[in-house]
Amino acid sequence: MLLLGIETSCDDTAAAVVRDGRDVLSNVSTNQDEFHAKYGGIVPEIASRRHASLLSAAIDDALVRARTSLGAIDGIAVTAGPGLIGSLVVGVATAKALAFATGKPLYAVNHLHGHIFAAFLDSDATPPYPFLTLLVSGGHTQLVAAESAREMRVIAKTRDDAAGEAFDKTARLLGLPFPGGPALEVLARAGNPKAVAFPRYRPEAGALDLSFSGLKTSARYFLASDAAKLVSHADIAASFQAAIVDVLIDRVERALDAREYRAIVLSGGVAANAALSSAFRRTGAKRNLPAFVPERRFCTDNAAMIAAAAERRGDADLRDPLTLTADPSLPFA
Ligand code: KG4
Ligand code: ZN
Repeated sequence: MLLLGIETSCDDTAAAVVRDGRDVLSNVSTNQDEFHAKYGGIVPEIASRRHASLLSAAIDDALVRARTSLGAIDGIAVTAGPGLIGSLVVGVATAKALAFATGKPLYAVNHLHGHIFAAFLDSDATPPYPFLTLLVSGGHTQLVAAESAREMRVIAKTRDDAAGEAFDKTARLLGLPFPGGPALEVLARAGNPKAVAFPRYRPEAGALDLSFSGLKTSARYFLASDAAKLVSHADIAASFQAAIVDVLIDRVERALDAREYRAIVLSGGVAANAALSSAFRRTGAKRNLPAFVPERRFCTDNAAMIAAAAERRGDADLRDPLTLTADPSLPFA
């Protein structure tokens, strides 16, 4: 199938054309960073207004780059949640209008399914089921057991902050520009990850839950202390990043101890972090399991992953996609 994907759940206005849930014919994304940077975070009202003015052009661009047209598309896939409601509404309303005008099926996609199926994009090898996914984004940090494309269970979650949020907040304290995660990674490259002993959350043996608020608070107190004057910001960034990676990898290891999987898959915006992806690959090698990490451009929010999820899950649904977000049967509310 040839699907048009649309993603507007947060601050990226994105459209893509994907064939068979794998071949990315186009992947257009208009980043709104410059509009949010001066506020140090995403302003929902600005995000939805920007989507409203940018989305039609992004869709046209995606179709032109894919050398196709709406008439040749087999369906339209749109992120229905979770996300900022004003932002979601722009994508969903547009997708519904296009589906209505063309008579093509509409696929309401869960954004987190999108992140997981990013690992299937532009890749010859696809993860075999059952696989374990570590899904780390700005809003979510979860371990997901994927039994099949349609059967996915969240087996662990963060008790508080998402890893991406912890990156962003600490980056801000370090005076780094928005968005903080990628900037913190760049700074960390010049630092010593052992310079500061930040705490790692360890639940009791066998438990899988995650937590990052203690780490975030500890970074805040450290930065305000006299001890911070003795180490460079690069050392603090590297040590902070190492603590996040350690916690995430420890929970992956525990989940792999608990049952057998045939592969491990990294997903979500934080998967773009090289320290995390290399540690993740090392875990796969140690366990003799193939480790899948999406290409960097498919890690952070994009519309190709939304088309891929629609194709592989195959759930065209002509109910109102926004009511689907409240459906408790969706595994990632
Ligand atoms: O998946 P995503 O694009 O949006 C959400 O669904 O939340 O993830 C965005 C998150 C942000 O917190 C951002 O700082 C983080 O991913 N991120 C990174 C890196 N690239 C993106 N965090 C650490 N290192 C990176 N290279
Ligand atoms: Zn996302």
